[in-house]
Amino acid sequence: MKKVRIRGVGHYAPERVVTNEYLATIVDTNDEWIQTRTGIQSRRFVAPDQTTSDMAAEAARMAMKQAGIQPDDIDLVVVGTSSPDMLYPSTACVVCDKLQLKSPTAFDLQAGCSGFVYGLTTATQFLRTGLKKNALVIGADAISRFIDFSDRTTCVLFGDAAGAMLLSSTEEGSDQVLCSIDGTDGSGGKYLSMPAGGAQKPASIYTLQNHEHSVHMNGKEIFKFAVRISIYMIENMLQQTGLTIDDIDHFVFHQANVRIIDAAVNRMGFSKEKVIYTLHEYGNTSSASIPFTLSLANQNGTIKENDIVLMVVFGAGLTYAGSIVRW
Ligand code: ACO
Repeated sequence: MKKVRIRGVGHYAPERVVTNEYLATIVDTNDEWIQTRTGIQSRRFVAPDQTTSDMAAEAARMAMKQAGIQPDDIDLVVVGTSSPDMLYPSTACVVCDKLQLKSPTAFDLQAGCSGFVYGLTTATQFLRTGLKKNALVIGADAISRFIDFSDRTTCVLFGDAAGAMLLSSTEEGSDQVLCSIDGTDGSGGKYLSMPAGGAQKPASIYTLQNHEHSVHMNGKEIFKFAVRISIYMIENMLQQTGLTIDDIDHFVFHQANVRIIDAAVNRMGFSKEKVIYTLHEYGNTSSASIPFTLSLANQNGTIKENDIVLMVVFGAGLTYAGSIVRW
């Protein structure tokens, strides 16, 4: 088997900052409720002329530049997203066009917020077998396009962004992806869904009237699942690698809710100092949440070469995924 190296990371967030105070002008909510229940202070929304593939391409450009890899050398593109530009062509194909990539294998991976980490695990298999040499794994979501702004229980949670990672297959050195875990509890699919717009319930005047083209969520069920599955994934990955909590330099949790992260951290009894947060400023950016946080932390020097980074995420499905990497 070949080794997988992380060559570069990138991120992008749209310019438009949407504060809690602004949301309070359009729905019955307030800054105090949002901050105490979620930790979120603001988020970014795409501009009217921007879409998911634009953000994905920006994050990818940054990762390619950091890696020093040219468009012609990319032979695999995986985009984790649940807010694709359209049903088809896939957002990955649109990104190939925007980046002028030669002829890579390109596909979207729909695993809710877990899309990026699922994509990382998928790309890693292509690279280890040597089938592909340079993979762009992107997490990008414009959930603001699928929010019901009359539903205060969901519209305050999400923000738009993208994150990317460029990985290469090599013969030399050690593998930087130390382990991974992923899975699905399909019975929980009903707790987080977008009911209409697919083959089961195509768009109609009724689906529009019933607000069925937006995020529907049972927050309490997701909350319980998130805490339980995050702890399970951390314990499982430590067991797989023989590492201890003390060996982990940084924990990157899915940036959904500060209370979910803190509940898991408190139950496991480790220091919050090791946890990287971006949700206060950017909200829950779905598939972008993990790669966006990794890239921002890399840029500001929080994550350094050789650091051990553990990431865990959960999402619609209900899916879950985690990985430990050496930076
Ligand atoms: N502003 C003010 N009041 C609100 C708001 C709001 N934005 N939203 C709900 N409330 C009210 C409710 O109506 C309820 O009022 P009531 O008691 O009069 O009925 C009260 O606040 C409490 O509501 P709860 O739903 O019990 O609030 P909770 O503490 O559970 O917090 C939340 C809700 C933040 C959604 C929490 O359940 C959560 O974070 N769950 C996980 C959500 C999540 O992670 N989603 C995404 C995961 S997957 C992915 O990322 C795609």
